Amino acid sequence: MANTEQKLVLALPKGRILDEVMPIVRAAGIDPEADFDNPKSRKLSFATNVANLEIIRVRSFDVATFVAYGAAHLGVAGLDVLMEFDNAEIYAPLDLGIGYCRMSVAEPQELSGEDDPATWSHVRVATKYPEITKKHFASRGVQAECIKLNGAMELAPVMGLCSRIVDLVSTGATLKANGLVEVETIAEITSRLAVNRTAMKTRPTEIGHWIKRFEEAIHAHAS
Ligand code: PRP
Repeated sequence: MANTEQKLVLALPKGRILDEVMPIVRAAGIDPEADFDNPKSRKLSFATNVANLEIIRVRSFDVATFVAYGAAHLGVAGLDVLMEFDNAEIYAPLDLGIGYCRMSVAEPQELSGEDDPATWSHVRVATKYPEITKKHFASRGVQAECIKLNGAMELAPVMGLCSRIVDLVSTGATLKANGLVEVETIAEITSRLAVNRTAMKTRPTEIGHWIKRFEEAIHAHAS
């Protein structure tokens, strides 16, 4: 029997991806209250036109945390976040086809000329994604020493912190502006619908309904 008393919670990521996410959320039939679009509002959770569904707006990594612990039943998270978080409680059934970018290894232009990543046995890397980075390099026997940064990774080589970075690349403008070039692609990234596995078992009708609505919305969005 579904627990109809507890509202379903949809966790959405703050930041630039939200502009791409909202047309899909709205096409799925979910419209947040007016405060959601008010930049002055300090609210973090929002009622919607769907009586038993509310939206929370959190940092992208925190979407994964809320969904993994079941505090949010549904969420939108990039594959980068899901790979780094790598939690068995998160099921990601749907590629939303937005937020296209890639996760790459990059280094200074002047280094890349004579450098061959295939010869590395140890590499020091600045990244927001230490787990993905270590796994990526370990898979071919390279030990990665990761320096964790929370943003502006491209500054690390410029400032002499380390020569290589692992970061998301979209247009490539940030790398270029900082004299860096890509030397390897680790993964192609898009945003996914993330679902708490326990919620799928305890509230299958409701969760199934929303997965279907999101699926229809992305098809409508793509056509
Ligand atoms: C992301 C990413 C790169 C940049 C890539 O950062 O970390 O820095 O975008 O985009 P580009 O290839 O189009 O230049 P974001 O602006 O999201 O902020 P962050 O540094 O805080 O992660």
